[in-house]
Amino acid sequence: MKGIFITVEGAEGSGKTSLIQGILPLLKERSNAFIITTREPGGIPLAERIRNVILDVQSKEMDEKTESLLFAASRREHLMKKILPALKDGKIVITDRFVDSSLAYQGVGRGLGIETIANLNTFVTDDLEPDLTLYLDILPEEGLARIQQNRANEINRLDLSGLEFHQKVHAGYLKIAKDNPKRVVVIDAQQPLTKVIEDCFEVIVHRFPKLFKIN
Ligand code: TYD
Repeated sequence: MKGIFITVEGAEGSGKTSLIQGILPLLKERSNAFIITTREPGGIPLAERIRNVILDVQSKEMDEKTESLLFAASRREHLMKKILPALKDGKIVITDRFVDSSLAYQGVGRGLGIETIANLNTFVTDDLEPDLTLYLDILPEEGLARIQQNRANEINRLDLSGLEFHQKVHAGYLKIAKDNPKRVVVIDAQQPLTKVIEDCFEVIVHRFPKLFKIN
């Protein structure tokens, strides 16, 4: 595989989407590589349909394992139809969420266990790991306050889970970062967005110096 696979992770309200929108033009300015951005759950029509089922507030009674399997199914389609072909073509792929979301939300938040969810995802990804993960760290209270303020964004079924759930997810992310220090870089998402973009930009450019011109 010739491309580069970068994932962006973090809780709701951590600013992943704004980061990706903000960083894309900066990266394009410094590189001749083709860069695509995508998101999970979703990214392609079939996976977007699965996304609607998972995140629908009507799906309240969904079992945790069913939820994990739907995220996994959506991920497999997205990986096979969009991410892998782009990587094979030598592109840089930046995705908003990937396996770490399942480890943090279903593994720790829902209490199914990181190892169980990691095993399920090994089946899904055939062991493909991101080259770099930017984890945007924010305290759960702060993240939840941000999404409440910004109601223009959709509020989904997982956003409606209580603070305790989001605290578990946060602890899950910190454990993943600690256990994968080479792959995962922790970014302080409580800083202003411009600083978050700057920090992430520096990490990417220095991690892949052959692809980006360094001023
Ligand atoms: P989304 O609207 O994309 O939220 P955000 O903007 O915060 O990324 O909704 C995705 C939701 O799905 C979010 O609450 C996290 C959750 N999720 C999981 O629980 N497991 C997963 O594997 C993935 C990819 C997402």
